[in-house]
Amino acid sequence: MTVSLESPTSWRPDAPKTERRPIFDVWPQLSKNLPISHLADLPTPVEALDRVTGSLGDARVFVKRDDVSSLVYGGNKVRTLEVLFGKAKALGCTHIYSTGAFGSNHATAMVLHAPRAGLGSGVVLFPQPRSWAALENLRVILSTRPAVHALPHWSALPFGMWRARRSAVARGHRPFVMVPGGATPTGALGYVSAALELGEQVAAGDLPRPETVLIGVGSTCTSAGLLVGFHLAAKLGLGFRDAGGNPAPPALVSVRVTPWPITSQTLVLRLAVRASERLAELAGDPSLVVEKRDLAPHFRVDGRFLGRGYGYATPSGLEAQRLWHENGAHELDTTYSAKAAAAVVELARQGRRGPIVFWSTKSTPALPPPDVDALRSSPPRMRRWMEKAEGELSRGKLEPPLVESPGSPVRLLT
Ligand SMILES: Cc1ncc(COP(=O)(O)O)c(C=O)c1O
Repeated sequence: MTVSLESPTSWRPDAPKTERRPIFDVWPQLSKNLPISHLADLPTPVEALDRVTGSLGDARVFVKRDDVSSLVYGGNKVRTLEVLFGKAKALGCTHIYSTGAFGSNHATAMVLHAPRAGLGSGVVLFPQPRSWAALENLRVILSTRPAVHALPHWSALPFGMWRARRSAVARGHRPFVMVPGGATPTGALGYVSAALELGEQVAAGDLPRPETVLIGVGSTCTSAGLLVGFHLAAKLGLGFRDAGGNPAPPALVSVRVTPWPITSQTLVLRLAVRASERLAELAGDPSLVVEKRDLAPHFRVDGRFLGRGYGYATPSGLEAQRLWHENGAHELDTTYSAKAAAAVVELARQGRRGPIVFWSTKSTPALPPPDVDALRSSPPRMRRWMEKAEGELSRGKLEPPLVESPGSPVRLLT
């Protein structure tokens, strides 16, 4: 697809979208062995971010708009869910469960997309720092009325997953319970295909070959898939080649949004290698197995933008969020995309020329309005959390939304 590189708003809902996924073109054997549910509107566009970063330096910055990977609910998790839903359905499962924090984007994406794939849904969630984005997500999750397991703390997750599985089976369901972020070798294959998609866009001249790609990292799934995909695309000569025709994958900088050891360089590399092993097995091609030493020179985790921890806003993230907003670019959230954007701002200010690609991962299409009855009947632990968040937002103790949503006002329960 050709998109304008001039304007940061060239994405159009009527742009042609296809069910084509480059991973199946490159390795046709996968069409037999890797079932997927088509959820995303792909390819996502690439746009120049000149209006946002032009004032910061000479860097050429582009954005990969995975925030609009679907109008139902976009963001990075949709690509992961395509393969995990496919796997769940191939296993004969009737229900899919997402696990994570109260405001999980993975859970939000799952509850909104599961009905499209004919799957029932459930969530196993634990408390997190309160924020507007997390409150908005939890409202949406509960409004779809999934099976809900509200845990007191993240450390109860293994028990919560076991209990969710057991109670689903007792109700006659066949559950597929995903780990947080869907971070498994199969889940990562969605982003192997995304990396090939960017390679195709480079080859088509939609953007120059990126020197660096920046993205937020939490569960490691997205970064691991990209890392393998960039490496294999470069090897195949798909987009990432230098002027001499040699493989030149972009350097991936994953900006940490969760603390060590949940996110680490080692964990991303380990998952990347396992994802390449899964790909090799499914494609019937052992040469696709990638070693850590092939990937490590092109990868680093940057922990400097994390701040107090997962879910806490940071001054540099808020600055980036305002910069994007004031220049008419897509909205950023304080937990993920603003922290990665802060790293982009820093690179641009340092005078790096790039080209840099900022991978936009937080969904931006409007969320469905919440169902207040469903919120009122939610587990007391979640209800108290939402009431506190509403109070803190309206007293200015938490950053209020930059864009008011008429269907989802700050105060709904209080
Ligand atoms: C908006 C957003 N960006 C980035 C990430 C990080 O992706 P991953 O968990 O695959 O590392 C997530 C994870 O949920 C996310 O929701």
